[in-house]
Amino acid sequence: MDKFLIEGGATLKGDVQIAGAKNAALPIMAAALLTGEPLQLSNIPHLQDVATMQALLAQMGVKFAPGKQGELQVDAGDVHTRFAPYELVKTMRASILVLGPLLARFGEADVSLPGGCAIGARPVDLHLQGLRAMGAEISVDRGYIKARARRLVGGNIVFEKVTVTGTENLMMAAALAKGGTTIANAAQEPEVIDLADCLNRMGARIHGAGSSVITIEGVDTLRHAAHRVLPDRIETGTYLVAGAITGGRVRAVGTHPQSLHTVLSKLQEAGAAIEVGDDWIDLDMHGHRPRAVDVNTSPYPGFPTDMQAQFTALDTVAEGSAMVTENVFENRFMHILELERMGAKARIEGNTVVITGQPHLTGASVMATDLRASASLVLAGLAAQGTTELRRIYHIHRGYEFIEEKLTQLGASIRVAPDHAGDVEPKPTAMDAQRVG
Ligand code: UD1
Repeated sequence: MDKFLIEGGATLKGDVQIAGAKNAALPIMAAALLTGEPLQLSNIPHLQDVATMQALLAQMGVKFAPGKQGELQVDAGDVHTRFAPYELVKTMRASILVLGPLLARFGEADVSLPGGCAIGARPVDLHLQGLRAMGAEISVDRGYIKARARRLVGGNIVFEKVTVTGTENLMMAAALAKGGTTIANAAQEPEVIDLADCLNRMGARIHGAGSSVITIEGVDTLRHAAHRVLPDRIETGTYLVAGAITGGRVRAVGTHPQSLHTVLSKLQEAGAAIEVGDDWIDLDMHGHRPRAVDVNTSPYPGFPTDMQAQFTALDTVAEGSAMVTENVFENRFMHILELERMGAKARIEGNTVVITGQPHLTGASVMATDLRASASLVLAGLAAQGTTELRRIYHIHRGYEFIEEKLTQLGASIRVAPDHAGDVEPKPTAMDAQRVG
């Protein structure tokens, strides 16, 4: 295992190139299962989660042909098994995204249940309810979802809770169903729109993606298409917070400013000067310490839960006190205990954490517990005095490509070192790996 060694105190300055969105790339790769013709994708990020999705699809018979940087052809012309094994699903919850496409195209899918999760219960009951409403017969047997349908039929689905991958799974299933489907209380995330755009390029008839009601007119077959994955708004937000927490100036390039509205207004509230162009965002703290900002997470267009941990880190060194409330997931405050090891003053009360900003944090040995929690510890390490040793960094490589190189380019002192203590630790467990972001 490897660890990060971060020497805090540098003021970050410069440009950072933003990658394609993990949470758009994963469903779009799964969407390739809907057609026997190849899908030509670009702006695919270089991430462990993408490699996991590739491994999952490859064991079904899907062929991959990488092209120039970030290009990937996905060809599901010869799928010989409609099976997603526990060994792969347990390492990445987004594997559930193969369920809808397999069932819609082949009439059968055996997909492992994702199991427990470090940031809350995160069941898939709403995915299954929706597929049942489209005529699927679903049973759960020895940890596997067994779904069967001659041909799915369109239905009216009203989600009792907004679910991102649930909306995506049903949108993909409905694309090949007989008749029309309406999804009400749908997730409005930009990644849902990106998936719908890709599906429409493949010949689907989807309207309303990005609003709370999506309608899908099913078609008999889908075909080859080319699609460029939209930029990662969470990676963008994380680098902007890196600028803010170090009093620096960071310009995120190749990004999608419209999808970061709530995050940018919080950064302005924290004292950042923000300038925005077509595909870039410039953040300048003019050397000032950030002001504490309250955060309340909710589904898009609200403040993203995937940015909560990073803003919590910002608040630990900000001027004043703040309340951070997590409304999407239970148990998503695992980073707080680690931040406290670095001198943060925080008190958890139910789903809220009250933070009193300190003049500085102190480098310490801390442990990454999930993807976004590990991002918050990197940010805290950048702002801390002294050296922070961050262990279990495999979590961060699931969702941030070349993070050590990108931060180094911005002037941070961060390097990867072997974690010899890791040799005597238990191997990562399913619970560790499942911590999704
Ligand atoms: C997706 C994102 C993740 C992000 C999350 C919320 C991907 C690959 N991952 O995860 O980064 O943090 O959205 O923005 O896109 N729920 C149920 N039953 C279900 C499904 C969900 O109760 O069947 C609950 C969950 O436990 C959670 C809430 O609904 O409390 C939202 O979860 P959901 O939007 O489904 O998250 P994911 O799609 O897994």
